[in-house]
Amino acid sequence: MRSALLLVLMSLSVSAMADLKPVRLRCEYLQNPLGIDVPRPRLTWQVESRRRGERQTAWQILVASDPRFLGSGRGDLWDSGRVESGETAHIEYAGSPLRSWQMAWWKVRVWDRDGRPSAYSAPAFWQAGLFDKRDWQGTWIGRTREKAYQPAPLLRREFRARGGLRRATAAICGLGYYELRLNGQRVGDHQLDPGFTRYDRRALYVLHDVTRLVRPGTNALGIMLGTGWHKVHTLAVWKFHEAPWRAAPRVLMNLRLEYEDGQVETVSTDASWRTATGPVTYDSIYGGESYDARLERNGWDRPGYDDSGWQPALVVEGPGGALSAQKMPPIRVQETRQALEVRQPQPGVYVFDMGQNFAGWAELSVEGPAGTIVTLRYGERVNPDGTLYRGNIDVHLIKTDPPQRFQTDTYTLKGDGRETWHARFTYHGFQYVEVTGLPSAPTLDTLRGLVLSSDVDRAGDFQCSNPLLDRIQRATLWSYRSNLLSIPTDCPHREKNGWTGDAHLAAEQALLNFDPAAVYTKWMDDFADEQRETGELPGIVPTGGWGYEWGNGPAWDSAFLLIPHYLHLYRGDRRILERHYEGHRRYVDYLTSRAQDGIVSIGLGDWVPWKTETPVSLTSTAYYYVDARIVAATARMLGRTDDASRYEELAGKIREAFNRAFWDEARQTYANGSQTALSCALYQGLVPEPRRQTVLEQLVRNIEERGGHIDTGILGAKYVLNTLLENGRADVACRIVSQRDQPGWGWWLDQGATTLWESWQGANDSRNHIMFGDVSAWFHKALAGIRPDPAGPGFARFTVRPEVVGGLVFARGVHDSIRGRIESDWRIDKGRLHLRVRIPANTVATVHVPTRSVEAVRESGRPAGESEGIRFLRAEPGHAVFEVGSGEYHFESPGWTDAAR
Ligand code: BGC
Repeated sequence: MRSALLLVLMSLSVSAMADLKPVRLRCEYLQNPLGIDVPRPRLTWQVESRRRGERQTAWQILVASDPRFLGSGRGDLWDSGRVESGETAHIEYAGSPLRSWQMAWWKVRVWDRDGRPSAYSAPAFWQAGLFDKRDWQGTWIGRTREKAYQPAPLLRREFRARGGLRRATAAICGLGYYELRLNGQRVGDHQLDPGFTRYDRRALYVLHDVTRLVRPGTNALGIMLGTGWHKVHTLAVWKFHEAPWRAAPRVLMNLRLEYEDGQVETVSTDASWRTATGPVTYDSIYGGESYDARLERNGWDRPGYDDSGWQPALVVEGPGGALSAQKMPPIRVQETRQALEVRQPQPGVYVFDMGQNFAGWAELSVEGPAGTIVTLRYGERVNPDGTLYRGNIDVHLIKTDPPQRFQTDTYTLKGDGRETWHARFTYHGFQYVEVTGLPSAPTLDTLRGLVLSSDVDRAGDFQCSNPLLDRIQRATLWSYRSNLLSIPTDCPHREKNGWTGDAHLAAEQALLNFDPAAVYTKWMDDFADEQRETGELPGIVPTGGWGYEWGNGPAWDSAFLLIPHYLHLYRGDRRILERHYEGHRRYVDYLTSRAQDGIVSIGLGDWVPWKTETPVSLTSTAYYYVDARIVAATARMLGRTDDASRYEELAGKIREAFNRAFWDEARQTYANGSQTALSCALYQGLVPEPRRQTVLEQLVRNIEERGGHIDTGILGAKYVLNTLLENGRADVACRIVSQRDQPGWGWWLDQGATTLWESWQGANDSRNHIMFGDVSAWFHKALAGIRPDPAGPGFARFTVRPEVVGGLVFARGVHDSIRGRIESDWRIDKGRLHLRVRIPANTVATVHVPTRSVEAVRESGRPAGESEGIRFLRAEPGHAVFEVGSGEYHFESPGWTDAAR
């Protein structure tokens, strides 16, 4: 009797609690971030449930200044109360104003579709940044004001701390790059910190929790500074060596000591610091680094070091612009790689093959006499005789006599046993490392590869039954990693430039495979910093001034509008559109000022085409149209109805002008009928409805005439694949991406590529560019079938529609959306197609099950229409369409005796 009662009670308490669970708490896209200088940071979580069709109906957030308050259910900073809302992403903090340095602890609970509350989540936190310049103490310091290169400075100072320390936080802006040390230990694991910005407009500072490094009594702080982008002294065509912000390394650091008794002390950089040079005798973002281990100053970063021979630090000017917290994942070492082989093409010259093209360093491990100089030269190709070839990557350096140093590190041994070293204030793009000057013959262990990238999480992957496509996917991931080092870059060696066109072409792929939203958010601020009053943008961001006059045009500049547009579509981020609305408008107005009869003719156009070029004015005008539509849509969203109508009208006029200028009625084609021209018109929504089929047919014919090959540059490569997908010809697109001969991704791979190349020709250019990388987004969208839906930004709603094409017998895509994991996995087995999908709680998907007989579709063994959580919507040619709530589903459809076409 008693146990029966207990059971009833237990089941009551179980059913009173939601089966919905809030997890994965984030603040401004980041997990427990330090240094959030946003007054109303946005909080995000995910809800998990195993129930089908589960939804969140309300939430409650508690934010506390002390984790103990949170434990007892008190939100002294903010108690939102129960808010009826299904939203889980980007909830703005609306509690008491936050103070600089403040810790904010938070947790959230939610109510499920039946109105039952969940337990509270595990707590998370963020620490506020410094909201005001006046919150900084001390001064900027450095070692020199010299314009010419000086060895990397060391700066040090000792300080005393009491017992009873509660928290110690260091905030540091060390330009170009800093390494902060405390009591002999390196602080944090960030590399090449802080991120690159236009330093005279904005410099980034970084917060580190150093509580565990500070001890009662005497402590020592040490800072080493590198030049980075802050003082480029390699002469190259983009003229960073003339950047207006250029200055010798300098640093501003505040160490805040908070004691249990409420006292606060700050140790800051000022004239009391001492400075000397150290072992880094040369560092250059393009040139490389030299390290003379004989010049190490042992114990300089520990208490008790005799710095009487050092000089007082110089008090210097700051860079002048805003100080912003670095609110993005830092660059970190992603992995270490063993060399594949080492050869000796010439006596004493060793070439290591790392087996993979990537961005980073080689770590050297040697033993030998003091004074021995080992030289490492990095490149991505070798000559037929096995010697290093760099003619494809040193091309944009200004010619000097002797030629400038490029991607070269040197290490001078101190001669006391095994010495292990890698560069710290530069990075290289490479697969091969040439090593000379070794005291004895190397082994494979003499060098290790250290892979560097902004440490963004992975957020997706793709696999299928065609190994070639899997290799393209992997090469794309490697190219993206190699080209995300605090800004998206074009290539990691030759330029390291924030080329804007390359980045937006790769952005959808990036948002499906990775979680770079915080990096893009910061990069959009860089755009705002660079935009001229006239609205103009340079082709590279940041720039030292180069690039405006060049007229890279809207196919590049539109990154400023397209990336926020994608952040909205893929992550549900409205704020990024709102934040840059005025800048976006100004850009469109600038294009209007450059347009003639609605046509914009400036720009690079369909860059690096295969055989057929496309008029620049066609692609540039199409971006003008897209940009006007983005501005109009944002205006609508923000309730600026006048603007919305104005830009909608403008878009309509551009569309008319486009068709007037480029539609050739006699030939029934756009412009020269190139693949780019036709697909651009369709993809960008410029073709009048009655004409769409004709244009599509023209495009397919063009492709077929080329044996199923692509014949475009970087713009067309994105348009062609997407256009074919959106218009029911994924089969043709799949044929293009499966090609092994030129031009195509497969041809690169068969040439030994491990990353994507810069051109179809594969001539003397880079072998690690990301701008042809949208192909991976196409894999996700077309073959796995996971597609965002503008009706529910941030995957609140989405589509799963796999295309069974290309002879594939299985494909699988995973995307960790901002609302949780989405999976689509299909396989043809014994004549049946099995589609397994996973839909996160609180989202709704439209699932298009590939089938040859709509009535025969089953889910978990039942007729699909009768299955729980599923609603049959309609039949489409080749697909049965259902609306599906959260949960895991297993659809089956018969009749797949042959391999997919
Ligand atoms: C870069 C490209 C860039 C292009 C535009 C090249 O040098 O590497 O990726 O988009 O220039 O001019």
